[in-house]
Amino acid sequence: MTDMMNPAPAGQTILGIETSCDETAASVVVDGRTILSSVVSSQVDLHARFGGVVPEIASRAHTDLITPVIAQSLVEAGREGRELTAVAATYGPGLVGSLLVGVSAAKALALTWGVPFIGVNHLEGHLYAGLLEEPDLEFPLVVLLVSGGHTMLVEMQGHGEYRLLGQTVDDAAGEAFDKVARYLDLGYPGGPVIDRLATQGDPTSIDFPRPMINDGYEFSFSGLKTAVINHVRKNPDVSAEDVAASFQAAVVDVLLAKTVRAAEEVGATAICLAGGVAANSELRERTLDISMTSGIRAFVPSRSMCTDNAAMIATAAWWRLQSDGPSAMDLGAHPNLKLPWLESA
Ligand code: KG4
Ligand code: ZN
Repeated sequence: MTDMMNPAPAGQTILGIETSCDETAASVVVDGRTILSSVVSSQVDLHARFGGVVPEIASRAHTDLITPVIAQSLVEAGREGRELTAVAATYGPGLVGSLLVGVSAAKALALTWGVPFIGVNHLEGHLYAGLLEEPDLEFPLVVLLVSGGHTMLVEMQGHGEYRLLGQTVDDAAGEAFDKVARYLDLGYPGGPVIDRLATQGDPTSIDFPRPMINDGYEFSFSGLKTAVINHVRKNPDVSAEDVAASFQAAVVDVLLAKTVRAAEEVGATAICLAGGVAANSELRERTLDISMTSGIRAFVPSRSMCTDNAAMIATAAWWRLQSDGPSAMDLGAHPNLKLPWLESA
């Protein structure tokens, strides 16, 4: 997406569809910045008793929910299908059966309405959530993308121009939250529960390790998760609130130390959070504190823009439409899709 071509005609309205994991979502966004509707139907209750997302249940639920969710997004937006500029859907990464539901629906609707189809990388969607809510953010931007499946520091040098600064070598941050919560029998998904419990605990009560905090931009959360499990095994009466607060503090310390260092080293104009873990209260508060203490601008998208939604997909689709045009109709689901990285300097 290096050469940004002619400016797009105003009023390009895109229906975005997101079904990569356990949220069925549809949203109508104009010109990649004005949200007319954003509908998210979470399947969390269906998966909770299994302690994680069950792929077969997820794809069946997407099949049931996709039509009403899309219909609601169009009604709330006050738009007819034929008035749209394009229909976009996440085509990866994610669960293959779930992705196929969104991609198939988007292609069918695009054909029915005679408009183009655009396939969107889910991670690119997360990267665009901040720019959707704060269009005056300027490049280079350092984005901390922390979700259930990914933990990465990305330098956005321009639209579609991403450099990978570092990523996790084992568990994603969200995965660590979910696994610790599962071990403590707190339910699923773990992030929101630990976030809530941590408000009642003392973050300094247990000195958990801060893995690789001073080394480069890679992350590792598997050892921290094991340290938490070992501590609870040895101290069965420990307060769950203190464990939650101390674990969360360790995760946030590592995430922010690397993000600030990266922003300073690349000369970023701002740092921005993205992904489900960016809904975490402590991470959000301490990111905002950074703007006060370090002078680096920090932008924290609203919670609903951090967790999976389709507005971010419609926004990323709008930018892709400007640079690459529509996708081919034979584009399939790509469960292991990567971001298109620039070569490292
Ligand atoms: O981005 P997302 O909605 O889905 C993926 O693309 O993975 O992220 C889901 C992850 C889960 O691991 C969940 O536990 C975590 O985000 N999460 C949180 C919070 N809310 C969601 N983690 C910490 N604190 C939260 N408040
Ligand atoms: Zn996500």
